[in-house]
Amino acid sequence: MSFLELSQVTFFYPPKTIPAVKRINLGLEKDGVTAIVGPNGCGKTTLTRLMIGVLQPAEGRICLEGRPLTDYSLAEIGRRIGYVFQNPDVQLFSNTVAEEIGFGLTNQGCEPAAVEARVDFYLDYFELADYRNVFPLHLSQGEKQRLAIAAVLANEPEFLILDEPTVGLDAYRKRLLGDYLQKVAQLGRGMLLISHDMSFVDRMAERVITMENGQIKSDSERRGNMAYDH
Ligand SMILES: Nc1ncnc2c1ncn2[C@@H]1O[C@H](COP(=O)(O)OP(=O)(O)OP(=O)(O)O)[C@@H](O)[C@H]1O
Ligand SMILES: [Mg+2]
Repeated sequence: MSFLELSQVTFFYPPKTIPAVKRINLGLEKDGVTAIVGPNGCGKTTLTRLMIGVLQPAEGRICLEGRPLTDYSLAEIGRRIGYVFQNPDVQLFSNTVAEEIGFGLTNQGCEPAAVEARVDFYLDYFELADYRNVFPLHLSQGEKQRLAIAAVLANEPEFLILDEPTVGLDAYRKRLLGDYLQKVAQLGRGMLLISHDMSFVDRMAERVITMENGQIKSDSERRGNMAYDH
């Protein structure tokens, strides 16, 4: 049993009749780094939104640790799977950078001193300490991206989905992010990375899945015949 298991998953954005995601079969384990690559509009973001229950498949089934995703509340899924949005503007909602990072922990009932220590750590690592009291939407694009990632990582979810996490990051910050995510992966936490940045994918991912027109075209996990049988 995989951590996340998708079988024959199809999704349409109504009223469209062409599916954005079509008959996807995919298992993701609780550990290891998997990347999904593919051209604009091939369905990568849609697929990950289905995985966190924000969208529901028109056909097929998604299970989280063997139970249908529909058995869980969105909050329960959110506690297990951290999700970094492709566009940080839609993710950030707090009044200050520090609150944004601490929000999830406070919500989980963490002691204020523990929250503060964790917030300080992430402010430091992602070089956001100077912006501690700044309104998140006033940050630069790269700063917002780092904040969105820090806010999700601070909750230490068991599985992470990152949709284009390197967009807007300079080479130095990209390397730091990669270093950090490798540490997270070494702790045994699984990760699904969506990226057009092939050097980042090469560095990070043990398994690379290619999508095209809403379908999986290849999956490096499957040896021999790379063509996916759909
Ligand atoms: N909210 C929406 N309403 C209608 N159609 C949508 C919506 N979101 C995405 N689509 C369409 O669904 C298809 C898949 O989009 P999706 O965002 O999943 O692609 P993507 O692979 O993440 O692309 P990108 O690399 O540009 O991020 C595209 O044809 C897109 O136009
Ligand atoms: Mg996308």
